[in-house]
Amino acid sequence: MCGIVGAVAQRDVSPVLLEGLKRLEYRGYDSAGLAVIDDNETIQRIRILGKVNHLYEKHESSPLTGGTGIAHTRWATHGKPSVHNAHPHICRNQVALVHNGIIENHSALREQQITAGFEFESETDTEVVVNAVYQALETETDLLQAVIEATRQLEGAYALGVINNSEPHRLVAARKGSPLVIGIGIGEYFIASDVFALLPVTQQFIFLEDGDIADIRRDSLVIYDKNLQLVDRPVNISELNADVADKSGYRHYMLKEIFSQPNAIAESLENRIQDNRIVVSEFGQDAEKVFKKTNTVKISACGTSYHAGLIAACWMEEIANVPCHVEIASEYRYRKSVVSDNTLFVSISQSGETADTLAALQKAKQSDYLSTLAICNVAESSLTRESELVFLTHAGPEIGVASTKAFTTQLVSLFMLVIAIARYKGLSNDQEAEFVKQLESLPGRVNQILQYKDKIETMAKDFADKHHALFLGRGSFLPVAMEGALKLKEISYIHAEAYAAGELKHGPLALVDDDMPVVAVAPNNNLLEKLKSNLEEVHARGGELYIFADKSSEVEVSENIHVLKINGFYDFMAPILYTVPLQLLAYYVAVIKGADIDQPRNLAKSVTVE
Ligand code: AGP
Repeated sequence: MCGIVGAVAQRDVSPVLLEGLKRLEYRGYDSAGLAVIDDNETIQRIRILGKVNHLYEKHESSPLTGGTGIAHTRWATHGKPSVHNAHPHICRNQVALVHNGIIENHSALREQQITAGFEFESETDTEVVVNAVYQALETETDLLQAVIEATRQLEGAYALGVINNSEPHRLVAARKGSPLVIGIGIGEYFIASDVFALLPVTQQFIFLEDGDIADIRRDSLVIYDKNLQLVDRPVNISELNADVADKSGYRHYMLKEIFSQPNAIAESLENRIQDNRIVVSEFGQDAEKVFKKTNTVKISACGTSYHAGLIAACWMEEIANVPCHVEIASEYRYRKSVVSDNTLFVSISQSGETADTLAALQKAKQSDYLSTLAICNVAESSLTRESELVFLTHAGPEIGVASTKAFTTQLVSLFMLVIAIARYKGLSNDQEAEFVKQLESLPGRVNQILQYKDKIETMAKDFADKHHALFLGRGSFLPVAMEGALKLKEISYIHAEAYAAGELKHGPLALVDDDMPVVAVAPNNNLLEKLKSNLEEVHARGGELYIFADKSSEVEVSENIHVLKINGFYDFMAPILYTVPLQLLAYYVAVIKGADIDQPRNLAKSVTVE
């Protein structure tokens, strides 16, 4: 998604802005730009289509210098990726603006502004905002008032950074629905879409709340809330290091993140287990009270986080005996739904800023839920601020667009939630201790699975020239198959679909031929024999099978059947364990295809627009 960086300082801010954009690359973008107010109080701008490195090159050949500036990486929503659609947008050489979000009433505003004599240079929804600020400046006293006036006209979501050449040492920032942080330096201030962008210049951050407008100068920061009342927002000291976003010698962030899973899982468990029991208060002060009352669980999430929810639902019904429904947030938010008594609403999100997940939570808060719980990886996110109970996944920052360690730590966290609720539904201490033992064994077992990387890399070669792939699983391994298919399609661009293996003969079997690899997840559980019959159906029709199976599964290699035997045993941790080889498979296929693994085309890390 779009990334914003801005600064007001004594020094030349261009290097800070460029470095900030580089650090926001992981969010996904297609073009970038930067504008500063130079010593002659003129707004200077450069913009490019493509990567931030290209912006560096352009800056090197025609450097911009100035103490106040804004910069942006754009992820196209309205208007194709192009230089003229890239931000910052400038109105009549006086006002420059960067925007993240979507202005829903941009067509109506554009009509009005054309009638008022404005000419448009882009197809974006953003240009109406910079024009609106310019227009407001004709009657308002200063930039702050003009931004207030302009934002009154806007419907939709925005994070904004605005500068005005007649007030060269001032930056106004506003947020509604899209995240924005302020970084505090010594005699200088910064804004950005997230803290990573600013870690080289500060560790002190203020997280703007929805509706906030900040008036920022070199030596002062004033924040107004949505009612335009002066507010004091707390200053947070980040514990992240500036080098948190390096690849530590790995070729890609995704590979680093796959291999950091044993550690990430261990971090997720730390301080959450005492005397072989889950520490329920880790979910929040009221967690015990809420879990005791919980009769039903509703989970809402998007993408990979949704897959984690599907696995958790299987656990919840099997272990806690509590009905659990999972829904894609973008569907749930617009659907009339019925809430049964004492239902706990659980949102799952890596970023905590996914627009649909946040909207679903807002809907839930207006419904009759017992309480709301966020399972989230970002402590200071909109989701954690808006939820009553919070459980942090502690995966550490995830930079690769394809979610890996966030998923496995979500599963670990959700398993702890299941045990915590099950405790009040009759789970004995001995059973709880057994589940805790399974959890504690995970880091070592994931580590063992990572050792299969060479075998998986070899297997990946067979996929490189394929256009389609089918993933099969049953029970809690269907969402594992779904996650495997999502990983493959998002980073290798091979069309991949997951099916419940039992559904095969109801349609998808028609697709099977020697050009369609079929990937199956085959743990040695009660459904293994059923799954084997499904795989026979594929084999009989000439399909090429790639099976990830337990050593004890008795699935053997033969013509067109490739088997990777996982040193294991079946228990509730198996969905987590079987996810890892599928992550590696997708990764190595994408490497062979030469794809842009950490920033796949058209995708964004944090989807902050609808
Ligand atoms: C996963 O690889 C994806 N990039 C995507 O599906 C992601 O999980 C989804 O956008 C939800 O993001 P969140 O967890 O930050 O809410």
